[in-house]
Amino acid sequence: MARKIRPLHGLFGAEVVGVDATKPLSAEEFAPISEAFEAHSVLLFRGPVLSDEQQVALSEHFGQVQVAFKANQTGGSMFSRQSNINFETNDIFPPDHHRITFLKANMLWHSDSSYMDCGSLCSILAAREVPPTGGNTEVVSTRVAWEELPKNLKSRIENLSVVHSLSYARDKMDMSILTDEARAAAPPVKHPLVQVNPTNGKKSMLIGAHAAFIDGWSEEDSRELLDELVERASPAQNIYSHEWQDGDVIVWDNRCVLHRATPFESDKYRRHLERTTITDRARL
Ligand code: OGA
Ligand code: MN
Repeated sequence: MARKIRPLHGLFGAEVVGVDATKPLSAEEFAPISEAFEAHSVLLFRGPVLSDEQQVALSEHFGQVQVAFKANQTGGSMFSRQSNINFETNDIFPPDHHRITFLKANMLWHSDSSYMDCGSLCSILAAREVPPTGGNTEVVSTRVAWEELPKNLKSRIENLSVVHSLSYARDKMDMSILTDEARAAAPPVKHPLVQVNPTNGKKSMLIGAHAAFIDGWSEEDSRELLDELVERASPAQNIYSHEWQDGDVIVWDNRCVLHRATPFESDKYRRHLERTTITDRARL
């Protein structure tokens, strides 16, 4: 079947039709996918469930895969597991288990690895097993948000730097999510608030739950601006809400997309997705 692009949302996002993500891709086959990624910010592939090896092969076309943060169930591997299943017993975690609390942190708008110095080009989230209802993943574009900002706000924030911190974000929710070791492994990092895409010059904003401060600003002033920007980025009409099917693979551009998890009946249904996170090559 010929490759075709189908819009996911009026403002951004595209389904790549006619590409089986479980199959190896040649450099020639990947080139238009890379172009579509830069243009549309979010790509969806639908097809058979990927194996770990197939997901890594797809990921490596985009760049260098990051080793997952220690706090995850799969810490130390290339995968960040998003699941309510205990893989040692194959049972669902009870609702008060710290893994379930950990997953709730994903329900705030965020950009993966924005708390890392090397940042992230994109995440690839692949559905192994999904609930029959609920548990959508929602995405918004901060490229769209930037374009929609009033001119005076754009000029006020254009040259600011923003400090991203994992411990700031997690501790605000629940001090018990991170161990001291995990906290020490992720010191705060500074990024330009406004990012420029190197292939097309489009601007976006690196904001979301890990964004702790505007460099040099008070916590109060920082909070006010950062909360306002997330709010402006996420009105209902700008959200693409993805209803997962087994085998779905979504690639989102962490430089210009915020995403969040949404609730499902986690004491009743099983949900298992695996994420690979690709480093921003421009920052290597
Ligand atoms: C992630 C994430 C959301 C979800 O994998 O980085 O935030 O819906 N996932 O599982
Ligand atoms: Mn995430």
